Amino acid sequence: KLIPVILSGGAGTRLWPVSRELHPKPFIRLADGQSLLQKSFLRAIALPGAVEVLTVTNRNLFFKTADEYRETGPIPVPLGFILESEGRNTAPAIAAAALTIHQTYGPDAVMLFLTADHLIADFTAFSEAVATAIELALRGKVATFGIKPEAPETGYGYIEASGHDVLRFVEKPDLATAQAYVDSGKYLWNSGMFCMTAQTAMTELGEYAPAVLKAVDESLKVSRRVEGAGQYQIELDAATFAKAESISIDYALMEKTHHAAVVSCSIGWSDIGSWNALGDLIKPDANGNSVKAEAFMHDVKNCYIQGEDRIIAAVGIENLIIIDTPDALLVADKNHSQDVKQIVGQLKKID
Ligand code: GDD
Ligand code: MG
Repeated sequence: KLIPVILSGGAGTRLWPVSRELHPKPFIRLADGQSLLQKSFLRAIALPGAVEVLTVTNRNLFFKTADEYRETGPIPVPLGFILESEGRNTAPAIAAAALTIHQTYGPDAVMLFLTADHLIADFTAFSEAVATAIELALRGKVATFGIKPEAPETGYGYIEASGHDVLRFVEKPDLATAQAYVDSGKYLWNSGMFCMTAQTAMTELGEYAPAVLKAVDESLKVSRRVEGAGQYQIELDAATFAKAESISIDYALMEKTHHAAVVSCSIGWSDIGSWNALGDLIKPDANGNSVKAEAFMHDVKNCYIQGEDRIIAAVGIENLIIIDTPDALLVADKNHSQDVKQIVGQLKKID
């Protein structure tokens, strides 16, 4: 039994002002009109053998999420939702899914954790990689999906791989380390998707993050469960869930486990982590400008410009990101696109 689990909750702070607390990155729509979340969902329901799609997200995003799913067309599988009172990062979210799936489907149910905000261009290759990951999961492994690195990105996890074996997993190394990893040719990027059985998840979390597992278990025990036609929602108890340490699965488990495995794959993966990555999806004009707006330009080179209602005019600029929304405007140097999250930090302080 395969249960795709969509983790949706990151704030996507590097994509401010389009990605906000109540309109986070998974809801960003691409040029074809589909949101990143809808694309993830469509991939999940298209996987052979999926018996349910479980989504772990914030309770404030439940209706919006369910609406987005319905908008994609007929839904062939039952839907489950685990609703968080607050984001505690991915380790608690994964623990909540594992405990729930274990109870419903038993220890051998295979969970495939998917991100809500990535692009995967080659579904066939992805589906093949998933089939391999399922085999590894059934042999007790925590399977990851490794992507050939293109640059020393410091926002990713790095996997030292030898066949399916993982020699080392390092989450978010500093730039010099990332550069050395890329140069060595032995490392892959962690794509942020994981595959393991409910039993493996519980055993491993019990070993490396027992307090997280315990807090989430308590929260589930006093949670509110609502059943509907082909759908259920579990609203985690806020006070107990708040006791779970806020930590990602990468730090909590992947850096420590002895059971990690990797499926090296080429699936057209892209983590739209910053405006640069999003800009790269739009074919640039002859001057290197990627434009998704009504824009008038004179002597403008290598810029990414996105707007909604207003006309944007640019003169004599180079290498800038300009993102206009009805209530906020971002102007940033392309070389600093990772730093947009600093602004979100400053905004939080004045709230
Ligand atoms: N439900 C829930 N609750 N989901 C969450 C939470 C949370 O508190 N926090 C994050 N998520 C979701 C995000 O929406 C995203 O779909 C996924 O979990 C990964 O979280 P990110 O916050 O985007 O992680 P990251 O980008 O810093 O790092 C991860 O992804 C990289 C690839 O993009 C790691 O797995 C890295 O190792 C990996 O390279
Ligand atoms: Mg991410």
